[in-house]
Amino acid sequence: MTDNKFLYSFNDLPLNAEVYLYGASNGGERTSKYLKFFRKDISIKGFLDSYQSGQFIDMAVTTIDEAPVQWFENSIILITSMYWVDISQALKSKNIQNYRVCSDELYALPNFPTAPLNQLRYEVKCFGTDEIKKALALSVQYIYGAEVEGDVAEFGTQTGFSSSVLAASISAFDGFSKITGKKLHLFDSFEGFPAINNESDQASPQIQSGVWGEGFFKGLSAEQLVLNIISASNMPLELIEVYPGWYSDTVPKLADSSRFALLHIDCDLYQSTMDVLDVCFSKNYISTGAMICFDDWNCNRAMPDHGERKAWAEIIEKYQIDYSNAGSYSWSGQRFIVHQYQSYKQNEYKK
Ligand SMILES: C[S@@+](CC[C@H](N)C(=O)[O-])C[C@H]1O[C@@H](n2cnc3c(N)ncnc32)[C@H](O)[C@@H]1O
Repeated sequence: MTDNKFLYSFNDLPLNAEVYLYGASNGGERTSKYLKFFRKDISIKGFLDSYQSGQFIDMAVTTIDEAPVQWFENSIILITSMYWVDISQALKSKNIQNYRVCSDELYALPNFPTAPLNQLRYEVKCFGTDEIKKALALSVQYIYGAEVEGDVAEFGTQTGFSSSVLAASISAFDGFSKITGKKLHLFDSFEGFPAINNESDQASPQIQSGVWGEGFFKGLSAEQLVLNIISASNMPLELIEVYPGWYSDTVPKLADSSRFALLHIDCDLYQSTMDVLDVCFSKNYISTGAMICFDDWNCNRAMPDHGERKAWAEIIEKYQIDYSNAGSYSWSGQRFIVHQYQSYKQNEYKK
């Protein structure tokens, strides 16, 4: 992102410009109001959004995937969303260069003294991301250093960011404590979130507010994911396994001999987390000393009756898990180490 993509004043837009507003929410509504007030020469062609289409205020909303790129040959996209980093990357990947990022003071904080808040937000966002990188890398180092049996599994791959961090960490620590050959198992629908059928998910703040929903967070295809990982790490292809599909279908089909030393749970929803953990604990896939990292622990206002918090509480109860809290990371991550538990398989063996 170069600074000249930021728009600090509506006066900097060309005379008689045609614009699309990216972000069918409060920021977009305010921007449309201000443009109509300050720049009557500008025509607003409609709203763009990452996920929603239809109508917003008095204009059509089109998802960026549905919008023909020719629209943007002579029109400027004004990004009015806090997710401007992701949006500008998505536009660049479609070869759309004709966009500007509205600085916060233009649409979000009308009475606030002007400051380059977008830049600050970018830096703060990077800081949060660095914390996730560090936590995942240390978790991988832990399973090598403490000789925890089994592989690494991630549930929720989307952009490939965390998968690449895990892969790079596995390749960096391979051979540490003489352990080699740990595999990276990657699980995702590659279609984004499933239909939200569970009552607790339906009632959760993130679903209610529309921040999460069916089909959200669709990211890289399985093929793009693997290519990304290979270019970001020294992970050999034969140590990567991808399981496309819903967890309720893919996890129960894992081999009985599966063992995991580290789980990265980044699938946000209560039901998705349950679909993973219930099978993994019931079939005794989780090793003694395994680390479980929950990426979305503090989502849903950290309410214990939603999301990953609710799922973990139920799983602890169901499998009588003896565990340690291994600490929080970034703004929403939380890690636990599993000591012992009662799996159905162990019970079967006892009979
Ligand atoms: C927030 S994203 C993961 C972000 C990712 N770790 C990254 O670094 O970009 C959540 C992911 O979980 C996946 N997901 C959620 N529930 C799922 C389910 N029940 N079955 C399969 N995939 C699911 C979505 O497809 C999405 O890719």
